[in-house]
Amino acid sequence: MSILAKNKFTITSALPYANGPLHIGHLAGAYIPGDIFARFLRLNGKDVVFVCGSDEHGAAITIKAKKEGVSPREIIDKYNQQIKSSFEDFGIHFDIYHRTSEDIHHKLSQEFFLNLYEKGEFIEKFSEQYYDEEFHQFLADRYIVGTCPHCHNEGAYGDQCEKCGTSLNPTDLISPKSTLSGKTPVLKETKHWYLPLDKYQPWLEKWLIEGKKNVLKSNVFGQCQSWLKSGLQPRSMTRDLDWGVDVPLEEAKGKKLYVWLDAPIGYISATKQWAIDHGKDWEAYWKKQANPEDDSTLIHFIGKDNIVFHCIIFPAILHAHGDYILPENVPANEFLNLEGEKLSTSRNHAVWLHEYLEEFVDKQDELRYVLTSILPETSDSEFTWKDFQSRVNNELVAILGNFVNRVMVLSHKYFEGKVALGTALTDQDQSVLNELASYPLEITQSISLYRFREALSHFMNAARLGNKYLADEEPWKLFKEDPERVKTVLYVATQIVANLAVLAQPFLPKTAGKLFTMLGLEPQDWACAGSTSIVADGQVLGEAQLLFEKVTDEQVDFQLQKLKAAKTKNVLQNTQASPAKSNISYDDFLQMDIRVGTILEAEKVAKTKKLLKLKIDTGIDQRTVVSGIAEYFAPEDIVGKQVSILVNLEPREIKGITSQGMILMAEDADGRLDFVNPISNIKAGSTIR
Ligand code: MF3
Ligand code: ZN
Repeated sequence: MSILAKNKFTITSALPYANGPLHIGHLAGAYIPGDIFARFLRLNGKDVVFVCGSDEHGAAITIKAKKEGVSPREIIDKYNQQIKSSFEDFGIHFDIYHRTSEDIHHKLSQEFFLNLYEKGEFIEKFSEQYYDEEFHQFLADRYIVGTCPHCHNEGAYGDQCEKCGTSLNPTDLISPKSTLSGKTPVLKETKHWYLPLDKYQPWLEKWLIEGKKNVLKSNVFGQCQSWLKSGLQPRSMTRDLDWGVDVPLEEAKGKKLYVWLDAPIGYISATKQWAIDHGKDWEAYWKKQANPEDDSTLIHFIGKDNIVFHCIIFPAILHAHGDYILPENVPANEFLNLEGEKLSTSRNHAVWLHEYLEEFVDKQDELRYVLTSILPETSDSEFTWKDFQSRVNNELVAILGNFVNRVMVLSHKYFEGKVALGTALTDQDQSVLNELASYPLEITQSISLYRFREALSHFMNAARLGNKYLADEEPWKLFKEDPERVKTVLYVATQIVANLAVLAQPFLPKTAGKLFTMLGLEPQDWACAGSTSIVADGQVLGEAQLLFEKVTDEQVDFQLQKLKAAKTKNVLQNTQASPAKSNISYDDFLQMDIRVGTILEAEKVAKTKKLLKLKIDTGIDQRTVVSGIAEYFAPEDIVGKQVSILVNLEPREIKGITSQGMILMAEDADGRLDFVNPISNIKAGSTIR
């Protein structure tokens, strides 16, 4: 059934943690798709509430506060404000942008907890949990890092590995470390309330695997399937923390609700606040109705790191409660990379929205456009500044902007901006108008399937149609002999502009507004799209406005320089060295035979990501060494380079290759590697002491 058969929609975009500014990855993950979808439904006359807000609890906030030496309250107030204005600036139009620190939210979360508690849904369990003896604190979630047991990412958190997406318990981590003291934590007993996800597994399998197989996007369905396959475990809904929503039980004094219990309830409390502000009934958007046909359709827009919470944990909570509707769909996006690398807040490898707007004043739609064209809908995708420039210059400026501008300028030049039907339409005109009329349906179909990239490309095809029509008809050449015909051509072209104005609304809200102003029209609903008489015979057009400007090479270089500078700064800051090891004797040291060697050959070890097989001239002999540097160095770049090699390390078998010795590498706190080599060329075999 098409999504448009439904009438009422509850749309959410992931609540961002109020612990830092937003970057392009956020926009591309959960917000641009949610906004396009919500705008599209509103244009179709649907009853929509689109909610979001700041996620202001959890270790994400307290850790940031500790780092900056301020209170959690200061952190959330600062970033809530900043995030909220970034959304407004980019035209992400929520019906409400709320905060989980509000009373109404604390109350609703506690009610939810008590509802499940009174039904006996929780398992109460004493368990041993990691505790930092130096800081006298239990280590919840992000206070603990270690190696992921699934993908061996060394920076996995106590509740989740963000690299492979697996949901974890702190005790799953290999070599756990406290992020407070950096030490290995001890286990200490504490009581918590667990949601028995294992008990809901059969229900989840039915609802998700049977019920959503052809509904969820394949990247989302695949993740769900693999979690269910590995078997769900009870998950604690409370934490030993001092920041968050109090657990509403006498015996749980000092404990807080798990942030992943309270955060999604934030969608509901936001709706509740919106309903109060606008005289609406919030329950109509969240609760099951007497007649299921009246139920609202719930859709969560998120990034892939949140799939487990929105497809498994939150639905289980809603199901356990019983009164609430369940999500119809969770169109999660994958990740957006930047210039060949992962976006990283901590390394400042990002394009921050507030900075973008200072550097590209008034160019919100340009970024919306480019991000929509590269949304990571089915797999990770990549933003580069060169690509940004070429999409803006070759598509927005050269196609859309150019077409609209020619229509406006010619209409004013020849007919004082007055639109007139002129002579009869030719077959050619008619076929262009027929093609024009086909786009709204194509866009509708794509948006209904959450294919926003495809939807946008249909929109651009409509602009291309306009451009081609003008190029074919060449009204500027015709005017002298046949001004009546030029009237008709501009009439047809103006209808194309008007259609573009209607169709642009979900994607490029600011541009759509300008187009309507130029046409002298009020914004029109989706139902008008496809009409070939949106602009009436006799209508006078407004002034031509500039829609888009070219992005210059200087602007691109500036951005690339900025990213480079962030990198250099990181390298300097990452001198945060690990503590020294205990002393050894000089004799111990002399046992190591370290030499200068030269790399003669290098090749990747098949079926591995990290390993290179090297042939080294050690001055003593030529030998094979396997080294874990493939992620940092390409084989062709290192042949001929000098390295330091420990030659008397016992040979080891690695992936079936005997590795004789070890190349010495410098490694920074982020795990980046570099060679330790002589400044000038020195003879292979020279000793290093
Ligand atoms: N704050 C979380 C994040 O940024 C997302 C919360 S989504 C919600 O990953 F469902 F919990 F609200
Ligand atoms: Zn992992």
